[in-house]
Amino acid sequence: MIGAKAQGGAKAGDYPPPGFWPGTAMRVRQPLIDYGKVRPHWAPNPEFAQHHNASSTIPVHVEPYLIKVLGRARALVDPADAQLLADIDIFNKQEGQHFRQHAAFNQALYKAGYTKLPEFEQRLRQELLGFLNKRSLKFNLAYAEGFESMGPPSAAVWFEKSDPFLAGADAEAVDLWKWHMAEEFEHREVCHKLFHALYSKTAIGAVLNGWLYRVYGFAFAVRHLGAYIEEVSQYLIAVDRQNMTAAQLVQSRARQRAVKAAFRRNMLPRLLLVLLPFYNPGRKRTPRDLPEFLLRFEPGGDRAAPA
Ligand SMILES: [Fe+2]
Ligand SMILES: [Fe+2]
Repeated sequence: MIGAKAQGGAKAGDYPPPGFWPGTAMRVRQPLIDYGKVRPHWAPNPEFAQHHNASSTIPVHVEPYLIKVLGRARALVDPADAQLLADIDIFNKQEGQHFRQHAAFNQALYKAGYTKLPEFEQRLRQELLGFLNKRSLKFNLAYAEGFESMGPPSAAVWFEKSDPFLAGADAEAVDLWKWHMAEEFEHREVCHKLFHALYSKTAIGAVLNGWLYRVYGFAFAVRHLGAYIEEVSQYLIAVDRQNMTAAQLVQSRARQRAVKAAFRRNMLPRLLLVLLPFYNPGRKRTPRDLPEFLLRFEPGGDRAAPA
């Protein structure tokens, strides 16, 4: 069971800590976030905000796609593997919440006049539909696992490496992203276990699928979504720059370089670990403050929507 290691014999880094939640660790939460307060430049470094605003349009399309892929794969899981089946169900419910919350957040971007955003999003949606309709379940599940493999590195970066960018940032955007990445960390093993259950049971399958094809899916997803984020963030920043003076433009470029340097320094080394043959998201160390942060979304917490 995912999260079962919390029951007894816990060691440092186990998640959640013993007795942290009653029952299963993975759970669906309904955040309470006032999206009416969202503004596109929600961080003191607007280029940092725009990089994440571009990313915020991804879950609205990729996560419904994930739900469809996992739904198809679920039908092939051994009915005796009740825990995996239950985990898939919670995974899908969490992703359902994620994309709805990002859709609500993204309204502020449309209202602010970034008129080309729907065009980019429509293209992404069509590409994902093409994967669903034309490619194998193995490909789609490897892509899904590739996408999911970006979750734990993103959670680590959000919780442990982003403070210089988050000081003075708007709470709505920061809490949306941290909640999302915390739940990505929470359900990090589901796609991995599902992919292995279907395609990597034999020794040859473990090498050809569990490692090589999994890495192919990861590289494909990183390249596909990395190119999308780059294109969309460049567009958002280009719109912002239309009204900048020459001096402001110099500052904007310097801030963007700082964002890219932080990505290379913090995210890239973590992503490279996914390439290893024995990569196992279940062994990831829990990012600092992540479990405590999620408590705010539990009943009685300041970010929990009323039941
Ligand atoms: Fe998600
Ligand atoms: Fe996820």
